[in-house]
Amino acid sequence: MNTEVCRRFGIEFPLFAFSHCRDVVAAVTNAGGFGVLGAVAYTPDRLEEELRWIDDHVDGRPYGVDVLVPAKIDESAERGGGLGAMLATVSEEHWTFLAGLFEKYDVPLPDFEKAKRANSPGGPQVTKKGATELIDVSLAHPIGLIASALGTPPPLMVEKARAAGVPVAALVGTAEHARRQVAEGADLIVAQGGEAGGHTGEISTMVLVPEIVDTVAPVPVLAAGGIATGRQMAASLALGASGVWCGSVWLTTEEAETPPQVKEKLLAATSRDTIRSRSRTGKPARQLRSAWTDEWEGPASPGARHAAADDRRRGRHAADQQGRRVREPGRAAAGELLRRPVRRPDEHRQARPPGRLRHGAGVRGRRGTAERDHRGLTGGPSRGRRDQASATGANSRCSSLRPRRM
Ligand SMILES: Cc1cc2nc3c(=O)[nH]c(=O)nc-3n(C[C@H](O)[C@H](O)[C@H](O)COP(=O)(O)O)c2cc1C
Repeated sequence: MNTEVCRRFGIEFPLFAFSHCRDVVAAVTNAGGFGVLGAVAYTPDRLEEELRWIDDHVDGRPYGVDVLVPAKIDESAERGGGLGAMLATVSEEHWTFLAGLFEKYDVPLPDFEKAKRANSPGGPQVTKKGATELIDVSLAHPIGLIASALGTPPPLMVEKARAAGVPVAALVGTAEHARRQVAEGADLIVAQGGEAGGHTGEISTMVLVPEIVDTVAPVPVLAAGGIATGRQMAASLALGASGVWCGSVWLTTEEAETPPQVKEKLLAATSRDTIRSRSRTGKPARQLRSAWTDEWEGPASPGARHAAADDRRRGRHAADQQGRRVREPGRAAAGELLRRPVRRPDEHRQARPPGRLRHGAGVRGRRGTAERDHRGLTGGPSRGRRDQASATGANSRCSSLRPRRM
């Protein structure tokens, strides 16, 4: 196999492996692919140690590093003060919710108060300084790629990578983001569909990849999200990708440090057992559905309120961009919906002018990001435009059946 990324990155197969485990990174690189170490959880010293180990185990073959530098850095982390300062920003409502869960599931309650008072480093904190140090440590090693996990690569990363002759990759979930990333200096785009494990957007890989390939050409694109077999890899190449970038598939390998119980759960899971939830970091991330994610979606969860507010904000934003009006949820809108006369199916057919039905509307809407799962009038699953009224609460995907407004 010899695609553009094989030639550019000196690899035998256009397969990039994202993993937090150095053994996975080295194994994939040694097998002719390209391992990428996720460095977000590491201190600079620990990263130095990991990269030195990889250097000693790949015999000069290419590998990369992925650092997470969000556009908006948490202020408490920026001010310092360690774990205590970070925990002090968590609301009482959140603590009460957590304490209730520990009790409900019969898990011994940790000493939250002691943790809040502690001034320990408290694990990885994403600060500008921290991220810069990780970039410096990475570039001091013979890496073949540096990736920015969230948002546009910071100018500092691009400058330093350019000076070191290292290409920059960026993960994106929309065509707009891809365009912005390329403008900011990304040399390789990872088009990550909503099927992906970890932080992810809503647009499916099948829809996203060709859209991004067309948007950023001639910049090469790797397809990501739900890719774990040769068939899916071949499909990605057919969509125009120059290769693939996989994450979840490595979690159950021998080389991965995934706890055995989690490996078992992952292997036993079906394609219906994952959920996109904000319960881990506040941003939507795909993971196995669990009691924890169920509780987070429940009415007592502090997350439910934030998610609803965020969804309304995003709905308004999408509407502003399209010059459409979005109804605030509430009695007025519900009343209007209930008063609207319901047509019989044969009346629908008559009412729809022939020729206005466009094929493929559901495959690619005017703006992929304006489509989302929604529970419409059928009560069955369909995908609809965001502003369609939803009445029953069951997911539905329906724009392929609707005439599009011109
Ligand atoms: C457990 C887990 C953690 C992840 N953490 C990161 C991360 O820190 N940085 C990043 O760029 N991508 C991260 N990802 C996303 C992967 O880079 C990749 O895009 C994704 O896993 C591809 O979809 P797949 O899981 O269906 O293969 C993570 C994925 C998983 C499964």
